[in-house]
Amino acid sequence: MQATKTIPVVFHVVYKTAAENISDAQILSQLEVLNRDFRRFNADTTNTPQAFRSVSADTGIEFCLASVDPNGAPTTGITRTLTTANSFTTNDDMKAAATGGIAAWPRDQYLNIWVCNLSGTTLGYAYKPGAPANIDGVVLRYTTVGAAPANPFPAPYNAGRTATHEVGHWLNLSHIWGQAPGCTDDDLVADTPQQVEENWGCPTYPVTTGTGGLCTAAPTGSMFMNYMDYVDDNCMNLFTQGQGSRMNAAISTSRASLLA
Ligand code: ARG
Ligand code: ZN
Ligand code: CA
Repeated sequence: MQATKTIPVVFHVVYKTAAENISDAQILSQLEVLNRDFRRFNADTTNTPQAFRSVSADTGIEFCLASVDPNGAPTTGITRTLTTANSFTTNDDMKAAATGGIAAWPRDQYLNIWVCNLSGTTLGYAYKPGAPANIDGVVLRYTTVGAAPANPFPAPYNAGRTATHEVGHWLNLSHIWGQAPGCTDDDLVADTPQQVEENWGCPTYPVTTGTGGLCTAAPTGSMFMNYMDYVDDNCMNLFTQGQGSRMNAAISTSRASLLA
C-alpha cells in the first residue's frame, strides 16, 4: 500500500422530487462504501477469485466529507438544490445554476459529486484528469448512492459501486477493455488481463471466452469482478495494484492540490 491520502468530497444533491432528495444517511453510506472499497476493507473480498488475490490492492486512498466550503465557512459537505428538471443527461446541465443545477466547488480542492435523476439507463459518469474545471467530477443517479439499509432502492445497482467505478475514472482509470472494444486497446494497467469488452450481471467464474472474456485465452479468465467492469454491484470486489499505482500517480500529479 502507498501512504494514505484523503480526498475532500462535496455531494451536490440536485432534486425535483422528495425521492431524489436523498438522505444524509444515504450519502454517508456512500462515503463508507468508497472508503471500504479503496482500502480493500470491503466484506466481499472473499469473492475475489484466488487467481487474482495477489494483485488485489489496498490503494491507500480515502475520502472525507468537506468540512470547509469555498468561502471558508463550515459545511456538512452536502449541498441541496431544488430543480425544475425532471431528469438530466450527460450534457452536464446539473453543473450550472442556469441549467437547473449547481456550479462545481473549486476542483483543485474538492472532488465534486453531483447526485441527480439521470435519464435513460445511465447510472453515472465521470471525467478523467484534464477536463474543463467547470465540469470536472462525478455524476451519480440518486438510486445508486450508498448501500442498504441507507440506500432504499432496488438491486442490482444499489450498493454504492457506481461511485467506486466513477471515482476510478476520475482518478484516471479506464475500463478494463480500454477506450474501445475488441482487443484493439487496453487500460494501460499490466495486472488487469486484457479483455474483449464488458460483462453484465454476475457471471460464473471463470469467463475465458466471448465478449466478456480474455483477448488471449487463459484458465484464470477475465477479471470481470473488477470495479472497472460493468457487473452488478454485489459482483464487483477489487482494484488491482496496477490500478492503485495509476490512481496514486494521478493524485500526485494532476490532482495533487487536493491534498494541500
Ligand atoms: N458508467 C457506467 C454506467 O453509467 C457505470 C457502471 C457502474 N456499474 C455498477 N455495477 N454500479 O452505466
Ligand atoms: Zn465507466
Ligand atoms: Ca490491462
